[in-house]
Amino acid sequence: MKILVTGGAGYIGSHTCVELLNNDYELVILDNFSNSSKDVLDNIKKITNKDFTFYEGDMIDKNLLQTIFNENEIEAVIDFAAFKAVGESVSKPVAYYQNNVSTILNLLTIMQEHNVKKLVFSSSATVYGNPASVPITEDFPIGNTTNPYGTSKLMVEQILKDLYNSDNSWDIAILRYFNPVGAHESGLIGEAPIGKPNNLMPFITKVAKGELPKLMVFGNDYNTVDGTGVRDYIHVVDLAIGHIKALEKLNKENKGLFIYNLGTGTGYSVLQLIETFERVNNIRINYEITDRRPGDIDSCYSDPTKSKNELNFQTKKSLDDMCKDAWNFEKNYHK
Ligand code: NAD
Ligand code: UFG
Repeated sequence: MKILVTGGAGYIGSHTCVELLNNDYELVILDNFSNSSKDVLDNIKKITNKDFTFYEGDMIDKNLLQTIFNENEIEAVIDFAAFKAVGESVSKPVAYYQNNVSTILNLLTIMQEHNVKKLVFSSSATVYGNPASVPITEDFPIGNTTNPYGTSKLMVEQILKDLYNSDNSWDIAILRYFNPVGAHESGLIGEAPIGKPNNLMPFITKVAKGELPKLMVFGNDYNTVDGTGVRDYIHVVDLAIGHIKALEKLNKENKGLFIYNLGTGTGYSVLQLIETFERVNNIRINYEITDRRPGDIDSCYSDPTKSKNELNFQTKKSLDDMCKDAWNFEKNYHK
């Protein structure tokens, strides 16, 4: 089966491409390298010893999408291509809506023209806003997003639901990721954000490497085990496998639109993550407690029951693995 992976050179996309190739899917990757680099493609090949077709370009370019669908018998699409920096989305809302919403409208238009109606979409736990309780199930209310990035994911979810209601021959999986961290065990691919990291794990690895002096822990007065924010960290390889499970579901049963949480179901605090990183890697992380970051919430973790029951998806990797693999990648990685 031939899959188009948009944003396939990115963090989650590259790990998913590895799993897809390992499962004998044929791949066409589209990426504009706005937040990734060309080396990733060679590293995917090195890990899997398999090849794929690649197009460099922007998903906003309808002609390019048309060419890709004309030149390849695409049967399904996994769409990762988006901007993802929460803070940046507040200062550049137009760019975020353009890149995260307009582009998928182009993609859906061309998919319709070519009668390709299977789509896996990268959404986020951010659509739950500040949940009334945890763990979060898929039927929790969504909305009240606190930044344009989150709102862009909410908008696309709505677009996909409207599309499905208009034509239920579509098969769509909306996957709401919790906090992806870690890297492939080879150390060849991982999270390599351009510029200063916004997220906790890549910040920790940069401090461990000595590229940043100190981690700022954003607040220790949350209503959690030790006052620091609690999140559901999921190993990126487990997350990648979740996409294979979603594709299998869309292939087996033509039943429509599905929404799944992809998380482990367990929350860890910032301090617990730091302690685990220090212990498994035998390295000290310089940190300081500072003010809360605007928009952050106390706790966010998934109820993974639905994805377990319906996708047969279960995470295998522990927080120790996440911390080891993240550091292994960072040590190997040279810009
Ligand atoms: P990433 O930035 O590493 O990967 C995105 C890839 O898409 C990059 O390679 C980038 O160059 C490419 N891209 C962006 N806009 C493009 C465009 N218009 N045309 C072509 N290529 C384009 O991000 P990621 O962490 O791998 O995230 C993948 C998806 O998962 C995104 O949609 C993101 O919003 C979503 N998501 C990520 C997280 C997270 O914490 N990483 C959490 C929830 C959801
Ligand atoms: N944190 C720090 N210091 C830092 C960075 C983060 O203390 O330098 C804390 C945050 O306050 C939070 C936790 O670490 O308590 C995790 O923060 P991240 O920025 O790593 O992740 P978030 O949970 O804020 O958000 C992430 C993605 C969003 C996505 C969301 C849910 O950035 O895109 O997970 O999937 F929507």
